Amino acid sequence: MAGPDEWRCAAVTVPPGHSATFRLERAGRTVSGFVVNHDGHYRAYVNRCPHVGTPLDLWPNEFFTEDGRALICSTHGAVYEPTSGLCTAGPCVGDRLTALPLVVDGATLVVRLPPPTGSPAAAADE
Ligand code: FES
Repeated sequence: MAGPDEWRCAAVTVPPGHSATFRLERAGRTVSGFVVNHDGHYRAYVNRCPHVGTPLDLWPNEFFTEDGRALICSTHGAVYEPTSGLCTAGPCVGDRLTALPLVVDGATLVVRLPPPTGSPAAAADE
């Protein structure tokens, strides 16, 4: 059963060039995120632009540029590589979107909040 720090959806509902949004919660903290499918590669990011911290999608669930080759922040136009989250144009070039762990479990996409910093699970990853 999905807990509040985990989000699941059927992969088929996020075809190439599409995205989906979700919210995760842990210890009273809410994280808004989104998953994108870029040419069959799924990635999940926190929905927060590193420029000034606004969500990327002023128009809900609109993350791709018109040509579908990049992600774009609708506030000031920062452009990001879909598979790395690296900003390649706009006011925060060189910054990155914050990635969230995503696993494809059969036909299901699973995104979980990473373990809190300093937890035994986080220490094992270091
Ligand atoms: S807030 Fe995203 S480019 Fe300024």
